[in-house]
Amino acid sequence: MDKFFISGGQQLQGEVRISGAKNAALAIIPAVLLSDDACRIENVPNITDVRAMIRILRDMGANVRWMNRSTLLVDPCPLGTYVASDELAGQMRGSYYLMGAMLGRCHHAVVPMPGGCNFGVRPIDLHLKGFSALGASYSLEGGMVNVSATELHGSSIYLDVVSVGATINIMLAAVKADGMTVIENAAKEPHIVDLANFLNSMGADIRGAGTDVIKVHGVEHLHGVTYSIIPDQIEAGTYMVAGAATHGDVTVTNVIPKHLESIMAKLEEMGLEITEFDEAVRVRYAGKLNKCNIKTMPHPGFPTDMQPQITTLLSIANGTSIVNESVWDNRFRYVDELKRMGAQISVNGKLAVVEGVDHLTAAPVKATDLRAGAAMIIAALAAQGTTEISQIRNIERGYENVVEKLQKIGADIRRVTVQKDEEAQAV
Ligand code: EPZ
Repeated sequence: MDKFFISGGQQLQGEVRISGAKNAALAIIPAVLLSDDACRIENVPNITDVRAMIRILRDMGANVRWMNRSTLLVDPCPLGTYVASDELAGQMRGSYYLMGAMLGRCHHAVVPMPGGCNFGVRPIDLHLKGFSALGASYSLEGGMVNVSATELHGSSIYLDVVSVGATINIMLAAVKADGMTVIENAAKEPHIVDLANFLNSMGADIRGAGTDVIKVHGVEHLHGVTYSIIPDQIEAGTYMVAGAATHGDVTVTNVIPKHLESIMAKLEEMGLEITEFDEAVRVRYAGKLNKCNIKTMPHPGFPTDMQPQITTLLSIANGTSIVNESVWDNRFRYVDELKRMGAQISVNGKLAVVEGVDHLTAAPVKATDLRAGAAMIIAALAAQGTTEISQIRNIERGYENVVEKLQKIGADIRRVTVQKDEEAQAV
């Protein structure tokens, strides 16, 4: 069992190069299954969830290999099945994109009900509603989703709730369907636009991605391409908040500032000095951390995947802040861990009231999910003393080389392997 040990109090200074976007990669890699030939995907983050997706595709017969540290060559041609392995696919959320991709490729998919971060109910009813509208039928048995169609035809689909996953899955299933598909109340996240750009570069005909109405005109064939994935807005935001929490001066590079607008706006409201460059953003502590209120919203609102991180920053700001988590039912589980470090936060359903304290103090804490783990790192970097973080597998699902990137800007962070018996003694 590995843990992070972080000694807080170091002001983070310097540049962090941001990796490719996890949630774009988890959509684009399975989307290659729609192609008649191989695709070269660049700027792929080498993280656990991506490695799991690669193993699932290899288990299904696809040829997938790393050309260098961030470039994949994915050849779908040898694919021999439409069934995804249940062990791996059930551990992550992004594997559900195999439903839309396989439906679009061969009109059949058998995929486990998705896993992923546990912060409330994570239904797929809108995905299935979209597949049905396109002419598919589905059944749920033994924890597997079995979806198939004799043929797929275009349709108009209104999403009752703005859903990133459903928007992506319906795009994947519709891109080779007969006729026009209109997705209304679609999600507008940067990774939706990235997927649409990737599919269009393969020969698809998708318009309106990034707005709430996406039109997909079905085409016969998609061909292989070389494509580079957008930078990860949430990884960038995480390092920006870490810089602010340590009263430091951190510049995130290889970013698209437009994707970070809501995060920059909130940090500015808190009193940080923000400087925007063409492909970089600098966050510098300017002597104060003011309270501010947060409401998470679908893009272009403040991203829910930044909620644990910003709440941690607010826990050491001046005054009382209100955080409203409007996307997920139960995304404050990490607060119990923060309170072990001295945070003063009271949670009531989707609302958290954050009373800023002068400082946090080190304690043994758990990374209860991916972004909660990022919040624990931020808290530990700002806290007095040495914090021990366990369940770091959750962090490494979505943050590439997090130890090296933090050490490069001055963090005192070590990854330690703790033997089982030591673990037992620790308890
Ligand atoms: C994606 O999850 C991301 N995961 C999540 O990021 C992110 O929090 C979320 O989008 C919102 O931005 C990946 O891309 C792999 P949704 P997804 O469908 O697609 C409801 C991270 O930290 N809903 O947009 O599962 C749902 O309950 C992860 O990187 C339905 O009701 O999220 C939620 O309230 C964590 N029915 C809301 O929509 C459905 O069929 C938004 O969910 C689907 C969703």
